[in-house]
Parts: sequence; structure tokens; C-alpha cells
Amino acid sequence: MTDSTVQEDFLRAFHAVRPAVTAEAFGRGRGPDGRSSYELLRDRVAGHRRVLDLGCGDGLLLELLARDGGRQLAGVDLSPQSLALARRRPALSAARLHTGRAQELPFAEGSFDACVSHLALMLMGDIEQVAAEVARVLVPGGVLACVLGGGAVGGEAYERFVGLLRRAGERTTARIPALGDRRMRDREGFEEILRPVGFEDVEWETVPIDIGGTPEQVWDSVSGLYDLAPMEERAVARLRRDFFADVADLVTPEGLVPCGFEVRLASARIA
Ligand SMILES: C[S@@+](CC[C@H](N)C(=O)[O-])C[C@H]1O[C@@H](n2cnc3c(N)ncnc32)[C@H](O)[C@@H]1O
Repeated sequence: MTDSTVQEDFLRAFHAVRPAVTAEAFGRGRGPDGRSSYELLRDRVAGHRRVLDLGCGDGLLLELLARDGGRQLAGVDLSPQSLALARRRPALSAARLHTGRAQELPFAEGSFDACVSHLALMLMGDIEQVAAEVARVLVPGGVLACVLGGGAVGGEAYERFVGLLRRAGERTTARIPALGDRRMRDREGFEEILRPVGFEDVEWETVPIDIGGTPEQVWDSVSGLYDLAPMEERAVARLRRDFFADVADLVTPEGLVPCGFEVRLASARIA
């Protein structure tokens, strides 16, 4: 089996059980100006009529895009279970939702004015192939806009959780497959992948998104990380206990815990 097959089998199996996990955590996330990371992407492609969402999951971003009206929307995802949720959204009744790989897009050349992707591109193997496919299906001048995973905001609950998770990882040999291509984690790598297939005007910005809430809500969000999938129930229960103890000093008088997660908001235009 190739690395990509192993990665994609893992992702399919994970999302079969948690088909909307990202939207549940980031749908209520807010950046410094009050917009969610989905809304940041929606606004990046304002005015573009034909839009494709790569790794669209349960269709939250597509639904936001549909609200503008007059758009032709499409989504591709590996997970049939996530797409089943997307298909239930009335706003997406006319969208083309396809179960499949971003590396093999079932669309003709120049089919889209923009391509968006929320927390998905950095998980994809064969990333050069994905970039070539996006370049192929965009019209000249078309835009790729994506939100990529970053890191934790210092001193908040996500950073604490990552520290506890690392320690939990030291107590077990169970591991998930390495996902995606490391180059998607920084601007230089992003450009290195996109420029050879004709993208230019690269923009790259770091935006902190607060996915904070009550300790329970924050646990629900952070425990949706892929890394917990191979952990035994006992180990997850211990991590949960440790997490609640560790964030107790962060709880505000309103009962909320700040949980900052930095995303990269990146875009490029095809020449
Ligand atoms: C972290 S989830 C994000 C889902 C959605 N974009 C959101 O933010 O709510 C990543 C999604 O990318 C999809 N995905 C990962 N690799 C893919 C690939 N090569 N082709 C298509 N979809 C892929 C997964 O199945 C999963 O639904």
C-alpha cells in the first residue's frame, strides 16, 4: 500500500465515525474580527460564482457560500458519511457533491472561478497532484483560498492539551499515519508546491481562531483530533481528567476557557 492509501484509509475510517468533527469545533470558532475561519474563506472568494470546496466535509463552508445566491457549487471529499451530511443541507440541493480524491477531480478544465479548502489541504498526500488538478479545473485568473492548520496560541487550552497529548503519546506505541505533506505548513513550502503548476500572487497570513467555550465544549473540540483515534478508552479517560485539571486556572468568571488555535489563511491565483 502507498503512503497515500494508508493515510486516506485512516481518514475515511475516522470520518465514518466523526463525519462533522471539524465543523463542530471550528463552526463556533472566532477570529479577532468576530468571523469564523469558514467565514474568512467565504469572504476571500466573494464575487466568484463557480466554487469548488476540496475536502468539503459536512458542507458547512459550501452552505455559507450558497447564501450569496446564484452560485454553482461543488464539493469533493473522501468520506461518504461526511458528504451524506452535506447532502442533507437544503441549501446544497443543487450542489455537485462527489465522493472521491482531490488528486483525481471529476471536473472538466476551467470549470471553476475559485477553489476553497478548510483544514483539509494539509492532510492530503500526493500534494503536487492535488495542486495540478486545482490548476486544471480553475479558469485563468481563478483563485485558490484555503485555511491550513497551524499551532496553538501560547498559554491557552489548546497548548495545554497538546502538551498532555504528547505525554500520553509517550505512554503508548499506538500511532496514526503521518498525514499530508509537511510543506503545506509554511509559506515557502506552499509556494514551492503551487508555483510550478502556474499559481502566483501568493498571500499567507496567520490568524488566531478562538474555539474556546465551557471546559466540556473545549474538551469535545480538542478530543476530536485524529491523534486520539488509536488511544485506548482508559488512556482517553486519563487525558480527559488531566485536561480538566490542567485548564482549571484558565476558567473565566463566566465559566469559559480560552482555546486559541492559529490557522494559516493562504491564497494564490492561477496565471
Ligand atoms: C479536518 S476535515 C475538514 C472538513 C471540512 N473542510 C471542514 O473544515 O469542516 C478534512 C477533510 O478532508 C477530507 N480529505 C482529506 N484528504 C482528502 C483527499 N485526498 N481528497 C478528498 N478529501 C480529502 C477528509 O475526508 C475530511 O473530510
